[in-house]
Amino acid sequence: MAPEAWQSKRVLLAVTGGIAAYKSALLARLLVKAGADVQVLMTAGAHAFIQPLTFQALTGRAVRSDLLDEQAEQGMGHIELARWPDLVIIAPASADVMARAAAGMADDLLTTVLLATRKQVFWVPAMNQAMWSHPLTQRNRTVLAAVPFYTMLDTAEGAQACGETGPGRMLEPEDIMTLISATLSPADSTRLHSGPGPISDGLLSGHRVVITAGPTREYIDPVRFVSNESSGRMGYALAAAAVAAGADVTLISGPVGIPAPDGVHLRSVTSAEQMLQAALMATADGCEIFIAAAAVADYRPARPAGQKLKKQAAAVQLSQLELVENPDVLKSVADSGNAAYLVGFAAETEQLAEHARSKLTRKGIDLIVANDVSRTDIGFNSDFNEVLLIDHQQTQRLERQSKRQLGQNLLLQIVDRWRLKNEDGTSGRGK
Ligand code: CTP
Repeated sequence: MAPEAWQSKRVLLAVTGGIAAYKSALLARLLVKAGADVQVLMTAGAHAFIQPLTFQALTGRAVRSDLLDEQAEQGMGHIELARWPDLVIIAPASADVMARAAAGMADDLLTTVLLATRKQVFWVPAMNQAMWSHPLTQRNRTVLAAVPFYTMLDTAEGAQACGETGPGRMLEPEDIMTLISATLSPADSTRLHSGPGPISDGLLSGHRVVITAGPTREYIDPVRFVSNESSGRMGYALAAAAVAAGADVTLISGPVGIPAPDGVHLRSVTSAEQMLQAALMATADGCEIFIAAAAVADYRPARPAGQKLKKQAAAVQLSQLELVENPDVLKSVADSGNAAYLVGFAAETEQLAEHARSKLTRKGIDLIVANDVSRTDIGFNSDFNEVLLIDHQQTQRLERQSKRQLGQNLLLQIVDRWRLKNEDGTSGRGK
């Protein structure tokens, strides 16, 4: 976290009706501790779960609740309240407030302030898993996410207060702080745990970086395929960091649900073979850094059907599915000798360092970034990751942080090592 990012920031913390409202008290406490000036706004529903006095004691400011409260309006009217903050955090954001805001309503103080403000608004949803996954809530989420100054944070998965299990839980206050501070102050969040300074515009000016990201799909027939859980977020965060550092970035991406960072040359691919062709083409004229963050399917169906298999035929085909090994994109680029510095990823569930180190030598690369995919608080479906950096000289841990922040820190570590290799002319690579 970067506490400096919060110093003197005016935060309007909106609390809506949900059991997770008790966690918002801790969030208010963390914000105040980090130096923010916090004004809490509670909806009518929130009052059923927590007392305004709790927030008043934590923030030193009287809570605002009513749109038509004459006394409060004399102090700071609702339009002033919309102009006052540097940012707005809605935590927990209930299904009801998401629906009303998505419809553009202004039927209480919060929705009125939301229509009147143009400041950054962070939505932290929390609700029962069935309510969260309902098509109408998901539609509202998409509508809100499309507002340029709105950021929708994910929900967490796990046991819920109602006794059910699934997505819809509110993120922990510490995680909310980490995710938001990463967006507040890029300069602070790019600082490494140890090593070189923050990303500057010129760090990679005039240099070419090629990154693979996301999953690949291997088709069985025109509508069925084999794939994996990769979201692409780690590779996309690295690409964004490389653009910020001034590099000429080609992002070769499998099918993902997130937008490409501004300024990259996006090459969209589907299969491992297409990813290989795109990678060889992007590196043909040489590149300084090649990063393989994609989760490439190891195998593909040997004979994909040209027509959609009917149910009966599909049962036979699937039970005897013949597979062939896919090309190794990273190893092929390493063997081509066209990339000056090569970085791979290793997703492991056991013996993290050992398995990763053997990949480093097997693939003939310079650095491997290893993460433990058996943990649910980091990795594939999380906004967070924690990794081990293993090269031919040392092993270093980058502590749990948001993928966006990690993208920047990782890139700095990579650039540092690439420069060192250039200076002393040693690769230490296993080939
Ligand atoms: N990789 C690649 N092309 C492949 C397979 C993997 O470029 N066909 C890259 C990935 O992008 C990642 C690294 O190689 O950087 C992962 O290595 P891999 O040996 O595939 O890891 P796992 O799939 O985890 O291997 P294993 O199942 O043997 O643990």
